Amino acid sequence: MRTSLHLVAAAVAVALVSCKAQDPVIKTVTDTASAMLSDQIAAIDATGKILFPNTITEDGSVKYIGHRDWRVGFFPGTLWCMYELTGEEKWKNEAERFTEALEDVQYLTSHHDIGFMIGSSYLRGYRDTGKQEYIPIIIQSAKSLCTRFRPGAGVIQSWDADKGWQGTRGWECPVIIDNMMNLELLFEASKLSGDESFRNVAVSHADKTLENHFRENASCCHVVDYEIETGKVRSHQTAQGYAHESSWSRGQAWALYGYTMCYRYTSDPRYLEQARKVAAFILNHPRLPEDLVPYWDFDAPGIPDEPRDASAAAIIASALYELEGYSPDNGYRHKADKIVESLATDAYLARRGTNGNFILMHSVGSIPHGNEIDVPLSYADYYYLEALTRRALK
Ligand code: GLY
Repeated sequence: MRTSLHLVAAAVAVALVSCKAQDPVIKTVTDTASAMLSDQIAAIDATGKILFPNTITEDGSVKYIGHRDWRVGFFPGTLWCMYELTGEEKWKNEAERFTEALEDVQYLTSHHDIGFMIGSSYLRGYRDTGKQEYIPIIIQSAKSLCTRFRPGAGVIQSWDADKGWQGTRGWECPVIIDNMMNLELLFEASKLSGDESFRNVAVSHADKTLENHFRENASCCHVVDYEIETGKVRSHQTAQGYAHESSWSRGQAWALYGYTMCYRYTSDPRYLEQARKVAAFILNHPRLPEDLVPYWDFDAPGIPDEPRDASAAAIIASALYELEGYSPDNGYRHKADKIVESLATDAYLARRGTNGNFILMHSVGSIPHGNEIDVPLSYADYYYLEALTRRALK
């Protein structure tokens, strides 16, 4: 397991996953996803453009996003996952078409999310195909991300100080827990280029986040604002959670996934321990519902009448499958299976012809901004299908 997530040659991985696709949950979801993604692609092709779906609007129509949006890689990433799950060339061709339309993203420096954007598209595609022409794009993307590294503080600055979300301005060097996810791009760029500086930035960022983002109970806040020259913490805040002190569910999911992934590349036991502590916080939380699909914030005041966040559930499931490989006998796989199975029920899995052709219903973008509440989201679909590929590898 330790090696299977990132070292198995792509073609072998595709074949492996494809053999295991007899699992009835994987089969149901893959069949549904196959129909819905085919419809999604047909709708895009009818426009004569290459568009990147992210969610639906109030009238139910699909909302597309531009190349600067942090979520733009998830649609191609979902298509790569379909290739891994089915082994069908059709999905590889579509994944390549949508990935290669994002070549300009490699130069993006205006926020930290290039790791999500290139990780789900070019990096995933490189793993699946070994395409050499993707390597310089992955390395250039890592260089772009490193322009946001602030050596005095030892962190990658997530957002520009003057581009705060409404009500949260006044930052100097804001870092959000989500940023842990961008480190995978740096670890991979070091492996591909032999340049250790990318990895060093990733380790510095992971260490500072370990030091400053977490509370006693292993939950994390969303935003830590640093003094840019010294690394002194200026404040702990939230942008997308219920309150500065609350536990925003997707933030906990990013923390779990982020430290599990950092352990994959470093074997640093502190990262594994943190991942296990975060898993314990999530899985033992008294307000985690029985189906293991969290409310959008563990401290949302109206629980049980608050929206669930299927995206957080999908990210948690995918991370738990990996964590099981490093820390077996803790029941992580069992919990991941339970989440995946909950999401495969009619309560979350959409029917063909509904939900803007997205696979999962019931995710939350940002309740404080009144944005994307109880809707499908491209990254919920992406991490759900990724979780299925990990389930299949066992
Ligand atoms: N990375 C932004 C979010 O999780 O909504």
